[in-house]
Amino acid sequence: MQLSDPVRFWQHESEYSGSQACKACHQDIYSSQSLSNHARSLRRAGLVPELASSLPFSRFDRVSGFTLTLSDNSRGAIRLEAADAEESSGAVLEWAFGSGTKGITPIGRTNASGWVESRLTWYESLGAIDFTTGASKYDPQNAVEGLGRGLTTEEVVECFGCHTTGYDGHSPAPSADEMGIRCERCHGPGRTHVEAAMNGESVDGSIFNPIALSGFQQAQMCGACHGNPPRDNDFDALALLEQTPHSVRFPSQRIVLSRCFNETFGELACTRCHDPHHDVADEAASFDESCLSCHDTAVRENGTVCPVASANCASCHMPTERVMRHSLFSDHWIRVVR
Ligand code: HEC
Ligand code: HEC
Ligand code: HEC
Ligand code: HEC
Ligand code: HEC
Ligand code: HEC
Ligand code: HEC
Repeated sequence: MQLSDPVRFWQHESEYSGSQACKACHQDIYSSQSLSNHARSLRRAGLVPELASSLPFSRFDRVSGFTLTLSDNSRGAIRLEAADAEESSGAVLEWAFGSGTKGITPIGRTNASGWVESRLTWYESLGAIDFTTGASKYDPQNAVEGLGRGLTTEEVVECFGCHTTGYDGHSPAPSADEMGIRCERCHGPGRTHVEAAMNGESVDGSIFNPIALSGFQQAQMCGACHGNPPRDNDFDALALLEQTPHSVRFPSQRIVLSRCFNETFGELACTRCHDPHHDVADEAASFDESCLSCHDTAVRENGTVCPVASANCASCHMPTERVMRHSLFSDHWIRVVR
């Protein structure tokens, strides 16, 4: 099986049907996926409880000299204002990026209708709003810049491209009423499949099942958003990743550095440890099992066994790193960390 296009993984042609249409026949997957952080990675800003319950919110920004205020605009969005004694500027923040596992960053349009990433973000580790990661790198010269980082349409298109479903790659907004990462973002458009199944016809080949992918192909597929992995003969890229602790944010790029990955010929797919329809919090108990499905001489002849411990494998071999302020990530370069 070829993964010819890691962004559009599927090869079948179909219209989209929306995840609701999958519910009747794939009830369990539908229920867990709907509650997952993938599904909640994009929402209307005004409807996000963490943000809504923090309003109104005001903070003096020492870097810019402006006071920033977030308030409810009562139409599903949030109003952001930057003001000092001389000038003020405003924006309507319509979209909230992030489930809130780490943070929630709103984006929207300024009064001058440019796109802006709010200078304020809600952080899980604080349970509160603080300055958006990277904000201190920008030194706003006027009230508009004080609202947050200005985004080009291309940048906004990229944000949506990784945080929503059925994205057409052009308009800077979700293409349907389907927000967040739902079924058809990973399985491809599903109407043909739904119709075939409803008519009792064969569903063979009507929808893409990533189970057919090798470990590297899956790293590529998930890596469309979780970091594009270099091939095993791209030594420069691999060496660079080893020396860049920040790449810990990109599991698809780190995992290809692991002996577990390289010495098992495609067996170590993301789904060996993750159920793509669940969050990691649901899976904690099963991570050891995944490791022991290889590191147990009863299962794999000549498999190496840990001389140090027999549980909580990831805590030592996949330690967390603080990649950004307020956010920890697990290092998918599985190894003896020295
Ligand atoms: C009317 C019932 C029905 C609906 C609606 C439906 N499916 Fe299916 N689906 C099936 C059946 C039957 C199979 C084959 C047996 C199985 O794997 O459960 C299947 C299989 C699949 C597979 C595995 C395909 C393979 O080749 O291995 C995927 C992926 C899938 N469905 C996704 C979806 C998605 C996404 C939606 C919504 C867009 C959806 N299905 C809607 C009935 C349905
Ligand atoms: C290349 C794909 C990609 C692009 C482009 C992208 N994101 Fe993300 N984003 C991700 C992935 C993957 C995660 C989860 C892992 C992580 O936090 O890095 C994430 C996580 C986040 C989170 C934290 C969510 C949480 O609570 O865990 C926020 C907030 C966020 N993105 C906002 C944005 C904004 C705003 C933009 C545009 C300026 C953007 N993202 C562009 C892929 C992307
Ligand atoms: C369209 C982009 C995209 C694709 C494709 C994608 N992800 Fe994600 N993934 C994200 C974003 C964005 C987040 C952050 C969600 C949030 O918390 O807001 C995320 C979060 C996660 C998480 C953390 C969930 C949690 O518990 O908080 C896991 C695990 C994950 N993805 C695994 C996968 C795997 C495995 C695949 C491939 C089968 C995959 N992802 C494909 C964008 C994507
Ligand atoms: C982040 C990507 C992603 C999303 C979103 C996603 N899936 Fe999947 N799905 C996968 C992967 C990867 C597999 C293959 C699992 C494996 O390798 O064990 C899969 C497998 C399946 C299967 C086949 C299950 C089996 O046991 O053979 C069905 C059916 C399915 N998904 C339905 C859905 C439905 C319905 C939704 C939305 C409610 C959905 N998926 C959302 C990535 C995703
Ligand atoms: C698909 C099989 C597979 C899985 C699953 C797997 N590994 Fe491995 N791992 C290997 C192989 C193969 C090696 C090379 C040494 C050997 O043959 O045992 C290896 C090597 C290692 C090493 C030594 C690394 C080095 O640089 O010398 C550690 C530590 C390790 N694995 C830990 C883990 C942990 C922890 C997990 C679970 C989070 C895990 N592995 C999951 C196959 C696997
Ligand atoms: C050998 C097991 C294993 C494999 C394979 C694996 N992961 Fe993970 N993953 C983990 C563990 C363990 C965690 C940490 C869970 C926790 O926080 O409790 C994790 C966490 C994550 C997170 C949450 C953010 C973070 O860094 O804590 C994302 C996103 C993720 N994995 C994506 C992926 C993707 C994409 C792949 C495939 C390229 C993949 N994982 C392959 C074990 C694995
Ligand atoms: C408390 C930290 C810790 C935990 C927990 C832990 N390990 Fe280790 N592991 C180590 C250290 C340290 C080494 C290196 C020992 C040495 O070189 O003498 C190691 C070595 C290994 C090796 C390489 C062995 C070899 O012969 O090359 C593997 C494989 C491994 N661990 C797998 C696991 C698995 C699987 C688990 C969970 C069942 C686990 N580890 C739990 C710390 C830990």
